[in-house]
Amino acid sequence: MLLATPHVRFHRSFLAAADEFRAAGQEVHDGIVNWPAERDFPGVVFTREGLEEPAEFARLVANRVGDAEDGGPRPPGWTSASHWWMADPDQPDEFVGSISLRHSIVHPMLASVGGHVGYGVRPSARRRGFASDALRQVVPLAAARGIPRLLVTCDLDNVASARTIEANGGELEGELRGKRRYWITTGA
Ligand SMILES: CC(C)(COP(=O)(O)OP(=O)(O)OC[C@H]1O[C@@H](n2cnc3c(N)ncnc32)[C@H](O)[C@@H]1OP(=O)(O)O)[C@@H](O)C(=O)NCCC(=O)NCCS
Repeated sequence: MLLATPHVRFHRSFLAAADEFRAAGQEVHDGIVNWPAERDFPGVVFTREGLEEPAEFARLVANRVGDAEDGGPRPPGWTSASHWWMADPDQPDEFVGSISLRHSIVHPMLASVGGHVGYGVRPSARRRGFASDALRQVVPLAAARGIPRLLVTCDLDNVASARTIEANGGELEGELRGKRRYWITTGA
């Protein structure tokens, strides 16, 4: 599995994946950003329809890449995060899913239910090991950032996500607010 920096070459396949997610009644993980304006924050809002436009998709790509920066545009109090798009090495322009690493969880929502890592795989590519492989590749990237332990959470009934975390050495701490809480030691 290729862990790619978000890029405009994924335009068509990203939209096709978004439609698959929508048909399954799910949102693209961290994909079509929708952060309404609040306080001093002007808001960052994309729509599936607007993203048909190449320039608008390029703006989304820039937002995803820029979210790793300390001063990136995001709602007040939110932490920076790195985002990668998953691709099959045999089809490197095909968007398969996405995974995010929040650089800090010093935020009430992240420390309780959100955790450090989030991911999603498009419905047509599931059960092929993409999520497990993506998480395996993100653990050393977290270590390189100096994060010693990753909090990874999933809904109590999300068997696929629980197994993804367990396949990566996640140790179950317990349950909180409808989520299972796992910790993965990164070796940092
Ligand atoms: C959770 C999700 C990312 C898993 O992606 P995936 O690429 O299909 O996962 P993998 O192929 O790496 O499978 C991981 C493990 O889950 C198991 N698994 C996958 N789908 C499963 C399912 N529907 N039921 C039971 N087990 C399942 C696999 O067998 C594998 O277990 P194993 O290592 O014991 O063999 C994907 O189902 C998804 O995008 N779901 C919607 C979004 C979501 O829930 N994100 C996680 C939020 S915490």
